[in-house]
Amino acid sequence: MPELGVNIDHVATLRQARQTYEPDPVAAAVLAELGGADGITIHLREDRRHIQDRDLRVLRETVHTRLNLELGCVDEIVELACRLRPEQATLVPERREEVTTEGGLDVAGRQDDVRKSADRLREAGIRVSLFLDPDMRQLEAAAQLEIDAVELHTGRYALAAEASGDETNRQAELAQLAEASAFIRKQRWALHAGHGLNYRNVVPVAAIQDMFELNIGHAIVSRAVLVGMERAVREMKTLVTV
Ligand code: PXP
Repeated sequence: MPELGVNIDHVATLRQARQTYEPDPVAAAVLAELGGADGITIHLREDRRHIQDRDLRVLRETVHTRLNLELGCVDEIVELACRLRPEQATLVPERREEVTTEGGLDVAGRQDDVRKSADRLREAGIRVSLFLDPDMRQLEAAAQLEIDAVELHTGRYALAAEASGDETNRQAELAQLAEASAFIRKQRWALHAGHGLNYRNVVPVAAIQDMFELNIGHAIVSRAVLVGMERAVREMKTLVTV
């Protein structure tokens, strides 16, 4: 039964639209935990477009489940993480011009950078997860590193699930996720997944053997705007735990 990590970056995006103090991601995290979140996820980007250093500091003190910090392989952010020590760090690719994280980390192409960041974080006692496409070349490169978990990028599956009637494509993407999951299991890494998951497409991903953690942001925060955070989280939690 997978655990649910709620990504609250979009709450900070709304606040930054007016450069003000509301809505506060710290309040959103409290409500998400009340709704049954098993963890809170934030991405401190180098350009600080949504989550700010203050959010990381305060959430470090107030999150009572576990805090998962997404970050690029950037020395400044890695050092900040090592000082504040979230329970988990997920290394992600980061490009300034992207709207959201596009594609998984290129661990095959940037093995030294990824190793340096992962080793530094682990030395600080932080669990390290890598955000990877379900691509054997990337997974095999990751197997050369000391890490604790892999979060599989479910963006392509989510797109296939949106395309009405394209059941063959959706099944093909699911099969690829299942194959990558088997490799992850063999490496004894914890299996995580995320990106583009929503109330309609999450169940088959939650059902993958040994799925340990799902990280979901856009769908939950979008529903929360209309029905409230606690209810939005509870409804997702119910779906992923059946
Ligand atoms: N996992 C990772 C590594 C991400 O970068 C994101 C997006 O910030 C998510 C999960 C959540 O994706 P979504 O907002 O589409 O649920």
